Amino acid sequence: MNPPLRFAAAANPSWRTDGESPPTADSLAQKSDEIPASSFGAPVARLLIGDADKVIRRLATFHFEFDFGFTSPPYNIGYGNNKSGSGSALGDFRYAEDDDCRDEGEYQIWQSDILESVHGIMRETGSFFYNHKVRTKVNRKNDDSGSIGKEIKTFVHPLDWLRTTPFNIKQELIWNQLSTHQQNTAMFSPIDERIYWLTKDSPKIPKITIPTVIEMSKAGRKDHPAPFPPELVERVLRPFVEDNRDMVVFDPFVGSGTTSLVASTLGLSSVGIDQSERYIQGAAERISQLCPNTRVIVEDWR
Ligand SMILES: C[S@@+](CC[C@H](N)C(=O)[O-])C[C@H]1O[C@@H](n2cnc3c(N)ncnc32)[C@H](O)[C@@H]1O
Repeated sequence: MNPPLRFAAAANPSWRTDGESPPTADSLAQKSDEIPASSFGAPVARLLIGDADKVIRRLATFHFEFDFGFTSPPYNIGYGNNKSGSGSALGDFRYAEDDDCRDEGEYQIWQSDILESVHGIMRETGSFFYNHKVRTKVNRKNDDSGSIGKEIKTFVHPLDWLRTTPFNIKQELIWNQLSTHQQNTAMFSPIDERIYWLTKDSPKIPKITIPTVIEMSKAGRKDHPAPFPPELVERVLRPFVEDNRDMVVFDPFVGSGTTSLVASTLGLSSVGIDQSERYIQGAAERISQLCPNTRVIVEDWR
């Protein structure tokens, strides 16, 4: 028999609508026994619709824990409804339910808070991989008269907020994407992104033979503007699977479902969150089609 999934939060949306209080972790633990877990048998991919921070905090109340996480959050590079006067060279970039355009200070606090929540639900032995990039933000300093002020370019590095989180930063990987569509003759063409390996004090370290620079083109999908290539997740995840075959995989910004898909192909159960119902439905279809052996469960946690 498969071991029980270490996830006692079989969310029943009825407790949001009928006023019933959420079930306790203990009562749900029995339910979770019914769900087969990983072990190269029938993995479960749970896809939760909702705001990442709120969903993680709720997962924590059910004592959910993950072993391996991989995520790519929104990068705050949207240009659209420019609230802060900050812009990017990527034009009108946006997600289905997020214009990816926040005040940079607020953005960093948001990311830092989410990482603190993620830290709270990671096992002591776990590892979390956080993909981001170095950005040059353009800010305008407006004066009191309301006239548009001078442009100021600010160099923003993910370490600016990663160092404020409770995680240990074990390593920085460079993802060399080989090319870019960012055309800006005033600077060198940025073709690199970063992936931070974040741990607690006693991480389980597998035998890793891959270099710190990963050369791999970006992925393209019609249904999502910024998906990972599945091979990227697979390359990082595979060494950990060798070491632990019952692990649960987690992605708080799962988008088109790449992290969960790769977990499924490796026979692992996963939990993925995204605030966009459209992306979650697309992810569910993608995983069901490519991994028919996986039991895909979509839940609305808004
Ligand atoms: C860079 S994409 C992730 C793409 C993913 N790695 C993939 O392979 O498809 C970031 C995702 O974060 C989601 N998102 C934005 N704000 C969110 C929030 N507050 N809570 C949960 N998801 C959010 C967006 O809908 C988007 O799908």
